[in-house]
Amino acid sequence: MDLRQALAALVGDRHVLSDPERKAPYERDYTGRYGGAARVVVRPADTAEVAGVMAVCAEHRAAVVPQGGNTGLVGAGVPRDGEIVLTLERLTELGEVDSAVGQVTVGAGATLAALQAAAHGAGQDAALDFAARDSCTVGGVVACDAGGARALRHGTARAHVAGLEAVLADGSIVSRLTGLVKDNAGYDLPALMIGSEGTLGIITRVRWKLAPLLGSRVAALVALESASQAAELLASLRAHAPSLESCDFFLDDGLQLVLEHQRRASPLRTRAPFYVLAECAARSDPTDELAQALAQAGIDDALLADDGTGRERLCALREGHTDAINAAGVPHKLDVGIPLDQLDRFLGQVPEAVSSAGGERAILFGHLGDGNVHVNVLGAAADDARVDDAVLELTLRCGGTISAEHGVGVAKAAWLERARGAEQVAAMRSIKRALDPDNLLNPGAVLSSLAARR
Ligand code: MLT
Ligand code: ZN
Repeated sequence: MDLRQALAALVGDRHVLSDPERKAPYERDYTGRYGGAARVVVRPADTAEVAGVMAVCAEHRAAVVPQGGNTGLVGAGVPRDGEIVLTLERLTELGEVDSAVGQVTVGAGATLAALQAAAHGAGQDAALDFAARDSCTVGGVVACDAGGARALRHGTARAHVAGLEAVLADGSIVSRLTGLVKDNAGYDLPALMIGSEGTLGIITRVRWKLAPLLGSRVAALVALESASQAAELLASLRAHAPSLESCDFFLDDGLQLVLEHQRRASPLRTRAPFYVLAECAARSDPTDELAQALAQAGIDDALLADDGTGRERLCALREGHTDAINAAGVPHKLDVGIPLDQLDRFLGQVPEAVSSAGGERAILFGHLGDGNVHVNVLGAAADDARVDDAVLELTLRCGGTISAEHGVGVAKAAWLERARGAEQVAAMRSIKRALDPDNLLNPGAVLSSLAARR
């Protein structure tokens, strides 16, 4: 039996796609920058089938790229060089919410929105949210340790994982789904899988920690002169608004791009260089608390929205950046973390760094509360890494991290050693070799091939 036949015998012929038109949606990422031809796309139905597929692929020494909702931004979920794409899209099972422990078991292919809906139905909250919620999947969210705006209060995906199940490169299944908060028996394998971007195992189910649902929300949009003013505002919000849940930012050229893309007028009377969008959530109305924290920071002209529609319209200005940028061209997306006291310097130096490396335009936005800046560069060829290198170099000079929430993928693999140091990367390579000696799982993502190291 050849590889295709063996896979078809496992998952059924109609779940092994080899027709170019049917493979196409799995072969290019959301940015349009990364992708390549898949040998085949295989769609297992459950954990046992994922394990079977991996055993067959191990026998044939066939490399595999695991894929969730294909909303990744660093090229970690799409084929590069004839790998097999293993999509988790059929693993959508959602267990019953256990309200007593505040947890639910969810299949890797369930969308974040489906998890949120299940949690809300039980009076709980998934406590993680971002714009790709309707398409991104829980397995992918955990595999890249996604963050989003609410990480400021609730942490990144890592903080929500009470356990998980994964299939290793040889087809064996490792499972820790009891959700016991205290369980320190042996190495924490789930922790190793989180953020490993499909290079150490394929996450098939997750035991998700929920948070109490906070039904009252209020958002404020504030126009400011600079990043340092924004940092002062953040300090005041932290001190005076314990219900603070998120604190994002964007700049005026990004706002203009979004307004044009969404064909709407600015809701603000006056424009400014810097905008902060803060949101508070509590059991009872947090509007007064937010208004007082803004007043303490000397802000008297914020735009407040305490109803669902009003908040959505404000949030669309920030969340709409991704689509507006994509509509303007194929972006180079650099998701970096910068210490707050270096933010002014970083934001000030990015345009020069980008233009001297051949980029036409840099649009910056992100999650102020986490020092997480999304640098989006337009006007550089997809395969020209000079702007990426320039932004990452500046990031390290400012004491930052080359990846905050999108992951390393193939986009930044060549930079990992500069960022983490030779010793850490050597330890990572040892772990990779131990779990995946034939380098079958997502080869080239996170850890570059040795030849490509700088
Ligand atoms: C966001 O914050 O909107 C996401 O990280 C997506 C992006 O950076 O484009
Ligand atoms: Zn983000």
